[in-house]
Amino acid sequence: MPAQVRVCEPAGSSRRFFLEAATCPARLPLGTVTTHQTVWEGPKMKASVLCFRAAVLLVIAGMLWGIVMGISEDHSTMPAHAHLNLLGWVSLFLFGVYYHLHPALDRSRLASLQVWIWIAGTIVLTIGVALVHSGRAIGDPIAAVSSLIVLADTLLFGWLVFRGDLTEQASQRSTVPAE
Ligand code: HEM
Repeated sequence: MPAQVRVCEPAGSSRRFFLEAATCPARLPLGTVTTHQTVWEGPKMKASVLCFRAAVLLVIAGMLWGIVMGISEDHSTMPAHAHLNLLGWVSLFLFGVYYHLHPALDRSRLASLQVWIWIAGTIVLTIGVALVHSGRAIGDPIAAVSSLIVLADTLLFGWLVFRGDLTEQASQRSTVPAE
């Protein structure tokens, strides 16, 4: 016999649990499922939260790098500093804003995967660019491979954006009453 349940989202939690109404402190009406059970549980951390946390850590690293460059008066690794800040701070923060504006996507595994790939790609690309500008040839293949990873990850993000728009348009069309 199906039980009436509500979706309960504890404050500060990125998880969604479907609980019996009586056990749920903050309630949103949802619907009916078969029993008192966890129906779906998304990634532990929302993609946007992951973006903002990683972006803050990376910009702190980028700023320290800039300060070291300034103090040492050696600006040779400036392109690596610029890539770390622009990919790791600016881009990552913008991804976070987009995901935050699209809550269903924000909870998806694919969005989290996109963010993790971006974080790893940015770090490896920064190391590669720094090695190249420090005169180490090993930096070339590292920068080349990681730049392709970052490009592929941008395509994944683009696919999520276009797919989301198509889904929204389809759902809007389906709710327009027939004349
Ligand atoms: C404490 C913070 C920062 C310090 C001390 C710092 C320091 C520096 C230094 C010394 C340079 C080399 C300049 C040159 O050789 O002409 C540089 C370049 C650069 N920085 Fe930063 N930076 C900081 C934060 C940031 C942030 C947050 C961003 C991006 C959001 C950023 C983006 C860039 C870019 C794009 C360049 C290259 C500029 C060019 O091509 O002339 N920096 N930074």
